Amino acid sequence: MGKLSRVALVYVGAVVVAASVLVATGPFTGLSWQYVVVLGVLVIVSESRATQLRQGQLSWSPSSAAMLASVVLVGPIGAALVGACTALGLRRGPSPLQRAFNTSMYALSAYLAGRAFLALGGHVGVPHESSFPTIIGPFAGAALVHVTANHGLLSGILWLTRSPDRTPSHAGVGLSGRLLLSDLGYGAFGLLIAALWSVVGPFAPLLVLIPLFVARWAVAQFAEQQRAYEATVGALCQAVETKDFYTRGHSDRVSRGSVMIAREIGMRGERVEAIRYAGMLHDVGKLGVPTKVLQKTGKLTEEEYAAIQLHPMRGLDIVREIGFLDEALAGIMHHHERIDGRGYPMGLAGDEIPEFARVLAVADAFDSMTSTRSYRGARRVDEAIEELRKWSGTQFDPAFVDAFVAALSREGWQRPEPPVLAADDLTSIAAQDHDDPAAPLRVIDSL
Ligand SMILES: [Fe+2]
Repeated sequence: MGKLSRVALVYVGAVVVAASVLVATGPFTGLSWQYVVVLGVLVIVSESRATQLRQGQLSWSPSSAAMLASVVLVGPIGAALVGACTALGLRRGPSPLQRAFNTSMYALSAYLAGRAFLALGGHVGVPHESSFPTIIGPFAGAALVHVTANHGLLSGILWLTRSPDRTPSHAGVGLSGRLLLSDLGYGAFGLLIAALWSVVGPFAPLLVLIPLFVARWAVAQFAEQQRAYEATVGALCQAVETKDFYTRGHSDRVSRGSVMIAREIGMRGERVEAIRYAGMLHDVGKLGVPTKVLQKTGKLTEEEYAAIQLHPMRGLDIVREIGFLDEALAGIMHHHERIDGRGYPMGLAGDEIPEFARVLAVADAFDSMTSTRSYRGARRVDEAIEELRKWSGTQFDPAFVDAFVAALSREGWQRPEPPVLAADDLTSIAAQDHDDPAAPLRVIDSL
């Protein structure tokens, strides 16, 4: 949570005040403080070992199980107190404001879960054999309310603090959906803690803690793996874009455009993630093309043209061993194929061209046209759409042109700022762009 806008501050303030009033006013009569303390310690331990899922963004811990156990064992206000123990977590990183927000969010969502449990006919106290199966319905309702309230409050602050250049439906949304499901799953451990309490008393959390931390370790491995993927892709993108001043940010925008098309046609989550990587890396093969060819100002010789046409194959050679790219590899290799079969490197036509490649081709050409190039200014979005429509059915798959136009009309498109050149950048300007459908590469022998 960096510097917050006034609206975001009001939002955080409202959440913190609501939770503080709730926790301060009780009522506390009849509350089993022993349970609150034991479950509170479990929350503190869980929060101290939270797993960060995205750089600087979400973190995850199994503490929701302890909070949901407290819903059953000590009721709404006790659950809010257990949730408030988040403040005592020993995790480094969160700022005081972030910590206050997280604590309030957990206290509020635990309280609301407690109210839902009672409203659905649940009874507060240690459950016994006779409590089953009737307790399952109220507990499931409480878990759903807990997760929904948590994610709702969290989404609110993420939305209010989003960076202006980020599309609203970033890949984080997919992750957030998975996070919601895993939170619901881990919430079930709460009922296990509560049920075990009648057998082993306050040792119940310990018995549940061990498998939970094993699960947490597995989640940490997954998050670490995701970070390694992002770093790998980011490093390769950086390498490609340092070769050409004018195409900086191009990979990122092609990735964004491809994701917009993929979502528009209802592609499932893992494939959307794969096409995001494909967009980032579609031109990685430029690393295998001599810089003097990429930056040539005059017409290309046949050999130079052939070298540029080889970049999809070079791209495949560079990244083929990166296992997680999977279907993205086909997109990288075939992103310059054309529906009429006149593209390269294989001259595939129609449905022979992998779906990823047909999606990338549309986003790639669109970003090229709406970006400034040394030989022309950036086209307006409507002009670029007109150009896509003109080549729809010959160069581009009409279905994906339509999908992109629909997504653009809903989400809009932020064109990149024209680059500001420093004197020493003049040597690194590409005078031609192989992605621009309105200005094909000029080849000496083709005259
Ligand atoms: Fe390319």
